Amino acid sequence: MTKVPSGWRRFLIFLPLLCFLPYFFSVRELHQSKTFQDLPTKKGKKFDHLVLGPAAGEGLPNRLQCQGTKALNKTHFSTSSHASTFGNNIAFVTVFTIYNSSLGVRADERASNLVVVGNASYSTEERSMAILHTFVNFIQVTMPKTNIFILTDPASDLSISRNGVTVYPIQGEYSRDKLMLQRIRSYIAFLEARLWELSQKPEHISHYIFTDSDIAVVDDLGHIFHDFPNFHLAFTFRNNKAQPLNSGFIAVRGTADGILRAKKFLQEVLEIYKSKYMNASRMLGDQLALAWVVKSHPSFDASRFSKPRVFLEDVGGASVLFLPCATYNWTPPEGAGQFHGMPLDVKVVHFKGSRKRLMLESWNFFNSYSDISDMLCLVLKSGRTKYDF
Ligand SMILES: *[C@@H]1O[C@H](CO)[C@@H](O)[C@H](O)[C@H]1NC(C)=O
Ligand SMILES: *[C@@H]1O[C@H](CO)[C@@H](O)[C@H](O)[C@H]1NC(C)=O
Ligand SMILES: *[C@@H]1O[C@H](CO)[C@@H](O)[C@H](O)[C@H]1NC(C)=O
Repeated sequence: MTKVPSGWRRFLIFLPLLCFLPYFFSVRELHQSKTFQDLPTKKGKKFDHLVLGPAAGEGLPNRLQCQGTKALNKTHFSTSSHASTFGNNIAFVTVFTIYNSSLGVRADERASNLVVVGNASYSTEERSMAILHTFVNFIQVTMPKTNIFILTDPASDLSISRNGVTVYPIQGEYSRDKLMLQRIRSYIAFLEARLWELSQKPEHISHYIFTDSDIAVVDDLGHIFHDFPNFHLAFTFRNNKAQPLNSGFIAVRGTADGILRAKKFLQEVLEIYKSKYMNASRMLGDQLALAWVVKSHPSFDASRFSKPRVFLEDVGGASVLFLPCATYNWTPPEGAGQFHGMPLDVKVVHFKGSRKRLMLESWNFFNSYSDISDMLCLVLKSGRTKYDF
């Protein structure tokens, strides 16, 4: 195993790269051969190729059933016939920055950092960009009419020219240590700009979904604004006492009222973050602050987090929709704990931590076979496997 220098940590939102094994296995071979390796048995081992095992949730009703990477339940639209009914007034917003530190990287070091996914090889910087492109790819398949805003450090030389994608610089402190804090600030600045824009063109309403960039949107999300007409902002929750809320998905209704309340809410989260959770600023501070704001509201009943059902609650004047992570922010749980498989109505898959390789492999798989359900079997069978980036 090769110890890789801290390259991956040059890029935000991702966890550090650890080690990799000297061979790989392309998705295409995997699909054709249908021979799967066992789940890793050695703790802490990270793989540089897909490792598939049994699919969790086997035999459970309303959970995806797979035979190899063939889905037995067709969970989603066939992409060709799919036309987003709601997507024309929705935008995704993500914070992404690149650290211009690759300049100092020696060529041999750069070469030893290359990883191969499918037929492409990526340096650490290219991996980060590949994740961003894959994020865009999935959205453009499942919600083709949506716009995507990438909020970034004006000092970073991020350039991405794709239809429907706008790079949106916002001044701030984007160092790795401050990133999660800056992310909330950037969201607030973005909402302020939208509020001003709305005052100029009141008829131009667009809803916003703020997400991490390591997610795959696998179904149309526009329906939430339609089906739950009364919320101002929405978060995803899970049954976890310490961290019931995930900050990786925040939906905001694009009315002046929705944007204003979301902005105030995030300002409160920011204040709590700064006053209570600065020691956790690198990774979890925003989630802890978010949970604190929600739970500190006297009428809030935290036991509602124990069941994966959508609910609406008033939190400090804002009407907040709580969406179960199982559907809107699905990640295989890490470490011990129950793992109930994948709901048939999953809409967002979050490739948290060292699952970025799986995100790229999933896109390649989808690109070859054009079937979201089968691709979800690939994701599901990969389970808790940790990959090399
Ligand atoms: C999913 O597929 C399995 C296997 O074909 C089947 O037994 C199950 O009823 C299906 N689930 C749903 C909700 O259709
Ligand atoms: C990888 O293969 C696909 C077709 O299978 C092709 O479109 C793509 O350009 C190739 N990428 C590279 C980096 O060669
Ligand atoms: C940060 O400090 C708070 C109390 O001030 C404590 O409850 C929390 O566990 C600390 N978090 C970390 C990650 O050290």
